[in-house]
Amino acid sequence: MRGGYKLKKLIVLALIVIGILFVLEQILGKDPSKRSLEFMPDMVYSVAYRAESPNPHFENGITQQNPVEGTIARGYKPYHYENSVEDAVRAGEEIFSPFSEENPANLKRGKKMYQVYCQVCHGAGGEGNGTVTKRGYPPPPSLLLNNAKNMKDGQLYHIITKGYKNMPAYSSQVERQDRWQIVSYIRKLQEVKND
Ligand code: HEC
Repeated sequence: MRGGYKLKKLIVLALIVIGILFVLEQILGKDPSKRSLEFMPDMVYSVAYRAESPNPHFENGITQQNPVEGTIARGYKPYHYENSVEDAVRAGEEIFSPFSEENPANLKRGKKMYQVYCQVCHGAGGEGNGTVTKRGYPPPPSLLLNNAKNMKDGQLYHIITKGYKNMPAYSSQVERQDRWQIVSYIRKLQEVKND
């Protein structure tokens, strides 16, 4: 009997709580498109314009303005070659590695970056037998063949930067300096075996 009494009390309490919540909801949250009462919003709402928000103070009505024509952002270096075989050859003629002498620290970095970004397709030794080629990805030609050997440093750099036919571009993952270091490392791999 005592258990039944307790249960009744609990149900009455629950009904009272639901009732209070219902009344509060009626008072505070009538229009769902408007905010209810906010206590101490502090600095949650910034007075500054957001980058993507419209802006009446500019003629073109946008907040984030485009760079002034003909300017280059500080620290950004433009790259004037397209993703084409002709431009890869042109890059080979026109751009050169900043690492003129063989430096063990550069080679070490180049090896590490090669292992991270290239090995999965090109294989540890550059022979074009990376892991993904065993799972259906078109195998790249060996980097130890004369074709790649005869490419200029700038051309290899270009291929990493822009991609090449079936190979995607790596400019967003691999820093410029690292690309040149990878090129040095490929040259090292190419020394190992002569065809
Ligand atoms: C997702 C796989 C993949 C990755 C990762 C990859 N490559 Fe390639 N690479 C290819 C394929 C496939 C080709 C052949 C492209 C074609 O002829 O269609 C190729 C071609 C090349 C060639 C031209 C070789 C020749 O003789 O024509 C070079 C050089 C090269 N890659 C360097 C690199 C370097 C350096 C990296 C690392 C930064 C890299 N690749 C990462 C797939 C890849």
